[in-house]
Amino acid sequence: MRLILPMPGNEAMAQAIAQRTHVELGAIEVRHFPDGESYVRLMRDVAGRDVDIVCTLARPDPQFLSLIYAAGAARDLGARRVSLIAPYLAYMRQDARFKEGEAISSVHFASIVSQFFDSLVTVDPHLHRRNSLDELFTIPARAVHAAPLLADWIGRNVPHPLVVGPDRESEQWVTAVAQAAGAPHVVLAKQRLGDRHVVIETPDILQWRELTPVLIDDIASSGGTLIEAARNLRNQGFVKPHCVVVHALLGDEDYARLLSEVAGLVSTDTAPHPSNAISVAELLA
Ligand code: R5P
Repeated sequence: MRLILPMPGNEAMAQAIAQRTHVELGAIEVRHFPDGESYVRLMRDVAGRDVDIVCTLARPDPQFLSLIYAAGAARDLGARRVSLIAPYLAYMRQDARFKEGEAISSVHFASIVSQFFDSLVTVDPHLHRRNSLDELFTIPARAVHAAPLLADWIGRNVPHPLVVGPDRESEQWVTAVAQAAGAPHVVLAKQRLGDRHVVIETPDILQWRELTPVLIDDIASSGGTLIEAARNLRNQGFVKPHCVVVHALLGDEDYARLLSEVAGLVSTDTAPHPSNAISVAELLA
């Protein structure tokens, strides 16, 4: 029999999945000792059960260790299978050694997850130089895709859209969203100069100037990519673009900065954020 256990902060998503799948919902207690070490306790008997632990990894470093302890505890306590439902899967972007000495975090992260879990499901992982999760994880790992949900939001909210991807990496999402929304699409060219600094070049897209641009990306982190893309579009005479992303990881200041440049930001609820307007619970269920 299955059991869904949310890590703290994931209760709403776990409940939405549990309701849709008619699976029992349990709880995990996590607190910190005075020295900062994590204390983890499973609040249901897991013996002989298939346990799904729900944990988005939008703030991975404070969340990951207690998640690993929860998975280890489930296994120690006799769970038949321990699976991870990670609406947002962290550490996928550092997928190469760009400078000498750098850790290829995605590989090490995947290795730890593969040791502690029997399977994984996530929404639109950032796979750029890897073709699939199977190249990183040694457990069955499945990605589900939010493109139809983003297209549906655009269809209901933006008349005459032009779907725009800020960089080559976004092409996979942009093409799928544009097709589903029945809209034309263009992809811009981005060069990353630093964590928060990108430059973007826009091809000649004046033929679409009467359309409303909708910027699509998998992740908004600092918001720098969307801001730079929005400025480029404005310089070409377009109205302020809407932004629709899968994973909104921005802090308050970056969010405010982005909102001053665009018509608005809409995201899925893979990471809790004020811009959440599209639920992936059904997709994950
Ligand atoms: C990277 O290629 C991703 O697809 C996003 O474009 C990137 O993570 C966005 O980061 P930021 O919001 O910091 O520009």
